[in-house]
Amino acid sequence: MVSHSALFGGVFSVTLFAVARKRQTLLTERLVLRRWQDDDLGAYAAICADPEVMRWIGRGAILSPEACAEAIASFERDWDEHGFGLFATELRVSRRLLGFIGLSVPEFLPELLPAVEIGWRLARDAWGQGLATEGASAALRFGFSELKLARIVSIHQVGNLASGRIMKKLGMRFERRTVDSSCGRSVHVYQITRPDWSRR
Ligand SMILES: CC(C)(COP(=O)(O)OP(=O)(O)OC[C@H]1O[C@@H](n2cnc3c(N)ncnc32)[C@H](O)[C@@H]1OP(=O)(O)O)[C@@H](O)C(=O)NCCC(=O)NCCS
Repeated sequence: MVSHSALFGGVFSVTLFAVARKRQTLLTERLVLRRWQDDDLGAYAAICADPEVMRWIGRGAILSPEACAEAIASFERDWDEHGFGLFATELRVSRRLLGFIGLSVPEFLPELLPAVEIGWRLARDAWGQGLATEGASAALRFGFSELKLARIVSIHQVGNLASGRIMKKLGMRFERRTVDSSCGRSVHVYQITRPDWSRR
């Protein structure tokens, strides 16, 4: 468990936390980022059953519907415990669930802790339209403007060029190369601090 004071740059404000908790839906030009609902499971399980989507996640295995249900429950627990989490991400025009974009604690890489990570996973037919960058920009703003986080990191497996490109487009800087011991794969860590984000 990571302390709130560490995540929030040494000053944990109950007031800010309460305000942030109320604002858990973000709108962008094309996307709605929101908390998870019971009826998201079918669409989320279909996304995580696609080997191309899962290629650069952990050992690259697809997820069962049961694992997806557990994952959604844990995303919601994160929201309740931390006041942030991975947003269920849907297309505004159709309200179709495309996947997730948002914030989490990268427990799988203890050397980075305390830290908050920004991440994304979208259905394959939604790729290549700038949607991940659009949603991630809003999630980054949420992390810095609402939550007052001091720093946000992002982690991609070496070879996941699309994710690395998103990190650069968000203004993040390469921080280190290391190994995710949970799967043995090499990863690149990027980061951006609140002052650097404010200056962009
Ligand atoms: C990573 C992912 C979210 C990208 O979604 P997206 O909506 O297509 O992303 P965007 O369009 O906002 O940006 C992707 C950028 O990467 C570039 N890109 C895509 N594939 C690339 C490749 N093979 N090599 C180099 N650049 C690539 C795109 O051209 C774009 O950059 P540009 O705007 O400068 O042209 C999506 O591919 C995905 O869900 N992948 C599976 C899950 C995953 O790997 N998650 C991340 C784990 S770290």
